[in-house]
Amino acid sequence: MKRSLSGIKPTSGLPHLGNYLGMIKPALELQKSHETFYFIADYHALTTIRDPKKLKADTFQMAAAFLAFGFDPAKGALFRQSDIPEITELSWILSCLASYGDLTRAHAYKAAKDEGREGEMNLGTFSYPVLMSADILLYDSDVVPVGQDQLQHIEMTRQLAQRFNHYYGEVLKKPEALVQKDMATVPGIDGVNKMSKSYGNFIEPLASEKTLKTQVMAIVTDSLGLDDKKNPDESAIVKFYKFFASPAEVADMESKFRAGGYGYGHAKIALLDKIKEHFDPMRKRFDALMKNPDEVESVLKEGKQKAQAQATLVLDKVRKACGLS
Ligand code: ADP
Ligand code: TRP
Repeated sequence: MKRSLSGIKPTSGLPHLGNYLGMIKPALELQKSHETFYFIADYHALTTIRDPKKLKADTFQMAAAFLAFGFDPAKGALFRQSDIPEITELSWILSCLASYGDLTRAHAYKAAKDEGREGEMNLGTFSYPVLMSADILLYDSDVVPVGQDQLQHIEMTRQLAQRFNHYYGEVLKKPEALVQKDMATVPGIDGVNKMSKSYGNFIEPLASEKTLKTQVMAIVTDSLGLDDKKNPDESAIVKFYKFFASPAEVADMESKFRAGGYGYGHAKIALLDKIKEHFDPMRKRFDALMKNPDEVESVLKEGKQKAQAQATLVLDKVRKACGLS
């Protein structure tokens, strides 16, 4: 059976619709056909988080969210990245093959440079793509479900695997990125940027009903009034509605937009209802898991064991291949 692997940083707190539609949902669908290894990238989060309690709590919360969204532990492993410290060893070995030039082409470095901050960038952020390559290669992954923004990292992973195999023989498997065509980049509620924690333009489907309502009502619209005819093709509300409503319901909303007499407030309430309908069972499960940490911890413990067994196999081959003891 082929293996699917992906990771998500816990820094975002609760996952947003971009995370869910772009990465989590497709990753969970792969449980039908693949062995799935998914982890919470707490080592990566250390590049920005300095608060140990927050790192621990956010990591736990993201694991609970994965379970609430439907991760089935019988079909794979859900684990903390840092539960497998072997990853740091493979990351070192790969870093000896990664060039400075490769890393200066990475998004995070470019963004820091554009803002004149590259001197303050820590080494962990600079070498972020190498640790990510190790994450993927340590588990002999076949496919990596991610959003569009991660494609560059997967390309770098393939290059590093190829370079390793060139010097040391065919040891590392080159993975394929899997990007959902329609969900590659979910827009933010500002209607300008992609949905992201860094832009503060997100909707968190597992948040409390009150927060969820505030986020949906904050979707940015133009200033057309209730009676005005509106173009549904330009509306962020309709875009989000399409993710959760049936084609008939979408057609109905579109025709109300065109007819006029239907305000953005009405459309937002219809969207909110759809989101609630879709996520209510998951939110209830999430709230229950947050109150029952033992259940989450036992899944993470089992995940750690499965991941460790695979990591040891690959790392042994890597060490032998490159002449380490
Ligand atoms: P953020 O931009 O909020 O910090 P992350 O970088 O932690 O999100 O992303 C975690 C996963 O979710 C990645 O696989 C990423 O590609 C995916 N993802 C994040 N935002 C979006 C989006 N707006 N559309 C599609 N996928 C997304
Ligand atoms: N870089 C990814 C993000 O920012 C998280 C991540 C870490 C990851 N390691 C990975 C994703 C390995 C896929 C595979 O969202």
